[in-house]
Amino acid sequence: MLEVRGLARCYGDGMEVLSDIDLDLDAGQVMVLVGPNGGGKSTLLRCLTGVDEPTSGTVLLDQEPLDERTPETRRAIAAVLDDIDFFPDLSVVEHLDLMARAHGVEDPESVVDEALAELGLWELSGRLPGSLSSGQRRRLALAGAFVRPRRLLVLDEPEQRLDRSGVEWLARRLVREKKDGLAVLVATHSPSLQEAIASGKRDQVVEIGGPR
Ligand SMILES: Nc1ncnc2c1ncn2[C@@H]1O[C@H](COP(=O)(O)OP(=O)(O)OP(=O)(O)O)[C@@H](O)[C@H]1O
Ligand SMILES: [Mg+2]
Repeated sequence: MLEVRGLARCYGDGMEVLSDIDLDLDAGQVMVLVGPNGGGKSTLLRCLTGVDEPTSGTVLLDQEPLDERTPETRRAIAAVLDDIDFFPDLSVVEHLDLMARAHGVEDPESVVDEALAELGLWELSGRLPGSLSSGQRRRLALAGAFVRPRRLLVLDEPEQRLDRSGVEWLARRLVREKKDGLAVLVATHSPSLQEAIASGKRDQVVEIGGPR
């Protein structure tokens, strides 16, 4: 589904953050990116979701060059990266409802209800994002990825700020996504999350950036 060849990303001062990255990720597989702070995991995820552009190399989605502007790509990739942002005056349920409807989900109400319940956001559904705790905001961001169509799920350190039951839920949910035939790409610093989601034979753990 996702094919990366010779990807490099340099920043203005010539610093090469990523060089010669090759990756292949198929449906029903998990790939976990690990490595030191500053190693380039988030940069790579941004290049793979079209938020950033590689300096060189190719990114193919279903054998076609990735173009995040096409509706097909936007329906295919659900990403929760570092840059979590919400509309300040839309409530929790309104955010999820908007996301589901914008992506043409059938029966958005029941999909949104399910996500609210699963992520423990039910009681908070009428609240504005500004009044949520940091972990509750992270749960809302994750819920957004689960109320929309997706074939490739991309998450940057999704365990951040979650409590223990949140991390346990996340691991179970990602395993279920894999079993449902999604491709799951996750950067994480959590060995236990890595172990829980990427211990299958077809799963991959990729080190990005050497030890510093
Ligand atoms: N816009 C930018 N301009 C210049 N340098 C950048 C920019 N964005 C990232 N970098 C640099 O690229 C390197 C890789 O950063 P990146 O955020 O991808 O690392 P990471 O592996 O996600 O780290 P962490 O584990 O801390 O999340 C870092 O040295 C960072 O300072
Ligand atoms: Mg990062």
